Amino acid sequence: MRRIAIAGNWKMYKTQREAKEFFTDFLPLVQNRLETSEDQVLICAPYTNLPFLVSFVAHTPANLAIGAQNVHWADSGAFTGEISAPMLVELGLKFVIIGHSERRQFFGETDATVNQRLKSAQKHGITPILCVGETKQQRDQNQTEACIYAQLEHGLKDIDQNNLIIAYEPIWAIGTGDTCDTDEANRVIGLIRKQLQNPNVTIQYGGSVKPENIDEIMAQPEIDGVLVGGASLEPVSFARIVNYTAIAH
Ligand code: PGA
Repeated sequence: MRRIAIAGNWKMYKTQREAKEFFTDFLPLVQNRLETSEDQVLICAPYTNLPFLVSFVAHTPANLAIGAQNVHWADSGAFTGEISAPMLVELGLKFVIIGHSERRQFFGETDATVNQRLKSAQKHGITPILCVGETKQQRDQNQTEACIYAQLEHGLKDIDQNNLIIAYEPIWAIGTGDTCDTDEANRVIGLIRKQLQNPNVTIQYGGSVKPENIDEIMAQPEIDGVLVGGASLEPVSFARIVNYTAIAH
């Protein structure tokens, strides 16, 4: 049984004050869905918001969780500017995004460091969300599959597939408004699943997910949820995504 996971990735947006305002408006809009569905709903917020948000969601239904957007592979050490898994565990965090394309593109993240970060998260009982996806150029050169298979092969080396979420995020669809065709996202996610030892891993789609396309995305049989950037910043829009129209699959 694959669990649906609807995740917001706030990236480097929202102060604590803005985060509070978001939740005040967001919670009433999703309360019913949280109480009546098994879906995992989570928001991956900037580090400075995490302590406040974790204590805030302690009073909401348990399927609403807070996650981080990165974690270092060492438990502690001389790594200026980094945050370790024990630090996240101490806050009670259960999820962390790893290998987002913005980390790969702007901060030199490689499949090898992604693999190390995944291992550290799992060692401390945190569920990592591994992001994979091809560039526009790779897609145009028919290298989509090869790119993703390489990211999976290296990223998932010695990783426990029973404590893992994968997000397929075609890079050209992130923040561009240019959503991947839902059939195509479904096809690629099916291919990703075939590469896994555990076919029940939750695999999300990410890239310009919005209220207008969420129902169509969630109707695809291989897609087990979404990772949402821009549209997760606004309460009404993210609530509409959380309250997608469910079609049994
Ligand atoms: P977007 O971002 O929804 O703004 O395209 C998705 C992501 O980067 O995870």
